[in-house]
Amino acid sequence: MEKFVVEGGNKLIGKVSISGAKNAALPILASTILSDGKCTIKNVPYLRDVETIIKILGELGVKTLRNQNGEITTEPSKRKSNVAPYDLVRTMRASIVVMGPLLAKRGEARVSFPGGCVIGSRPIDLHFKGLEAMGAKLKVEHGYISAKVKGKRLRGAHIYLGGAFGPSVLATANTMMAAVLAKGRTTIENAACEPEMQDLAKFLISMGADIQGAGTPRIVINGVDKLGGAEHSVIPDRIEAGTFLIAGAVTQGNVTVENVNPEHLFAVIDKLRETGASIEIDADKINIRMKNRPKAVEFSTLPFPGMPTDMQAQFMVLLCMANGTSMITEKIYPDRFMHVAELSRMGAKIFRARETAVITGVRSMSGATVMVSDLRAGAALVLAGLVSKGRTDVRRIYHLDRGYENLEQKMKSLGAKIKRVVEKD
Ligand code: EPU
Repeated sequence: MEKFVVEGGNKLIGKVSISGAKNAALPILASTILSDGKCTIKNVPYLRDVETIIKILGELGVKTLRNQNGEITTEPSKRKSNVAPYDLVRTMRASIVVMGPLLAKRGEARVSFPGGCVIGSRPIDLHFKGLEAMGAKLKVEHGYISAKVKGKRLRGAHIYLGGAFGPSVLATANTMMAAVLAKGRTTIENAACEPEMQDLAKFLISMGADIQGAGTPRIVINGVDKLGGAEHSVIPDRIEAGTFLIAGAVTQGNVTVENVNPEHLFAVIDKLRETGASIEIDADKINIRMKNRPKAVEFSTLPFPGMPTDMQAQFMVLLCMANGTSMITEKIYPDRFMHVAELSRMGAKIFRARETAVITGVRSMSGATVMVSDLRAGAALVLAGLVSKGRTDVRRIYHLDRGYENLEQKMKSLGAKIKRVVEKD
């Protein structure tokens, strides 16, 4: 296994280019199942999760080819299985997004039921609700979701996709991808408005789909008979960008993130300004400078355009060093606090009660050996290492490789002292 060794104390200074968004690339790649032609998808990050979806597409009979510069081409092949197997799905819950395209295109699907998740309970009832409303019959047997469409073609439906914690990003993706080839009109109410869903819709439209309202809570889709090839460039990763902005702020440095869409980061920028960061936006660049200790702030994570849950752990690190007491309420995944215990080992003062964490800022933290539980918790521990005194060993970094492209090279280019080390048992 590999780990990161981080030596704290350096201010991060410089420019960093942001990669394509993991959470847009995954459903977009899954949606190529729907296409009869060749698709070219640009700005796809090199990540473990992307490799997983490529393997699943291979199983399902979609040929993929990685070209230079983050470009992937896909083409339907003759070999056609409709099974997404356990060994691949267990490594990435997002694999469930092949369900909608398989049902729409082939009338059946067998997808391993996603297992437990360290960030808390992650039900899939809304995925079922959307697909069943369009006429699919789903059942869970032997650890798999088996689904069939009665009469082979899904039918349009009027669907309310709200759950106990609001809209669902991937249930919206699955329902939208199923609806593009369904007979008639589908209206999704309470759809997820995340930029990644807008990007998916844009790609589907370029394949020939008829979709209106993506990026709003009501998406209307008129089913078409078939979809062709298309070309698309994936949007920048707003969470990677936000993570580097916090790296600049927490080290009291001066960092510019390039190739970003600032509109996707509005809530993050607003809250960072409240902590005292000075932020300048210039087209697709955001510069952050932080001169003093951050001010304490309060926020709740919310669906887009609110503060993303995927930034909660990283923001918490900034607040660990703030002057005063901050409060974070996690409204999307009430148990997404695995990083709290590890940050406490580094000297952070955090009190957690259910979905709320109260953070009393400290003047300094100290390096320790810490363990990554999930992708964003891992990013938070690296950020904590950058500001802590001495050496931090961040273990189990395979989680980070799922979602951050070249993290250590990008951090190093800004002056961070971080290296990847193979751990001896
Ligand atoms: N939910 C339900 N029923 C469902 C589905 C979701 O109740 O059928 C609940 C969830 O338990 C949660 C809320 O709805 O409380 C939102 O979950 P959502 O379905 O939107 O999450 P997701 O689509 O499975 C995506 C991202 C996550 C990100 C969430 C929330 C991808 C591949 N994953 O997951 O990203 O945290 O949306 O924004 O797009 C990450 O990148 O680190 C990550 C975990």
